[in-house]
Amino acid sequence: MPKPPGPWSEPSLKPEEYRLLRDLISARTGILFGPDARFSLERRLRERIAALNLSSFAEYHHYLRFHPLSNAEWEEATELLTTNETYLFRESYQLRAFKEEILPMLATLARPRRRLTVWSAGCSTGEEVYTLAILILESGLFQTSQIRVYGSDISKRCVAAARRGVYGAAAFRATPPELKRQYFTEQPDGFHVIDRVRGMCHFGQMNLLNDDKAKLLGRQDAIFCRNVLIYIDAPARKKIIDVFLERLYPGGVLFLGHSESLLNVSTAFELLHLKEDLVYRKPVMSLRDPSNG
Ligand SMILES: C[S@@+](CC[C@H](N)C(=O)[O-])C[C@H]1O[C@@H](n2cnc3c(N)ncnc32)[C@H](O)[C@@H]1O
Repeated sequence: MPKPPGPWSEPSLKPEEYRLLRDLISARTGILFGPDARFSLERRLRERIAALNLSSFAEYHHYLRFHPLSNAEWEEATELLTTNETYLFRESYQLRAFKEEILPMLATLARPRRRLTVWSAGCSTGEEVYTLAILILESGLFQTSQIRVYGSDISKRCVAAARRGVYGAAAFRATPPELKRQYFTEQPDGFHVIDRVRGMCHFGQMNLLNDDKAKLLGRQDAIFCRNVLIYIDAPARKKIIDVFLERLYPGGVLFLGHSESLLNVSTAFELLHLKEDLVYRKPVMSLRDPSNG
């Protein structure tokens, strides 16, 4: 039997409230809640209604839009709206392609700058960032002092965990044991990334829709944005891809997740066919890039 309405009953997310919240979330974060996701959104945000002592999702929508503390509330909501699943050495065929085919190419390209910069955009708790740093070291093509790996995520808690660089057994399910031994030390609270690797990695909270913040990272030789765009709606995806194009050096490459592509996005990226993978490359002579002269 349905619960009678009253102060003890949990509010439900009505269709009209769903549309309002979904559009607000999309405009702010790009995160997509499709036509069938009303109950998923209700489940994710319900605890915020209780925490703020509100009586409906309409009130919550109003709070997010107009309350003086709305920025703090967006931080809370973001933690509930994002999917943060990740692990070290995820999708090994892509990582092989990066190490064996892309890094030698980037070593030539980056030689005059004497620095390699790689950005993991949507890095969750940092596993991808440390994986990339380890692979670059393992390639033997760069000195430690030349390598910068940036990790960014919209989730503040994820970025804090990424900075700590301490992982439990589940994070290592795809990690070659010899690399685990070499680059992590076991301590009572988990496996710690060694200082040499940690020193190459830098983290910051960033919404990928905020292109001004992305500019602070400078130009990149490679960008990894894996398993992020699947959660993002089409207009935001297009905006994010444009940010990546702008942030890459000419000849720089973009890695997407195995189920993601730029198939329906109009973009100046060119497709680069590797032995086991496809990556996107910013053309060396890009008409859209003023830095090309
Ligand atoms: C599934 S994780 C992917 C982690 C890692 N790239 C991997 O492939 O294992 C997706 C991450 O994207 C982040 N994310 C979603 N929307 C974002 C946005 N608008 N700006 C920045 N990060 C976002 C989420 O917080 C989440 O941590």
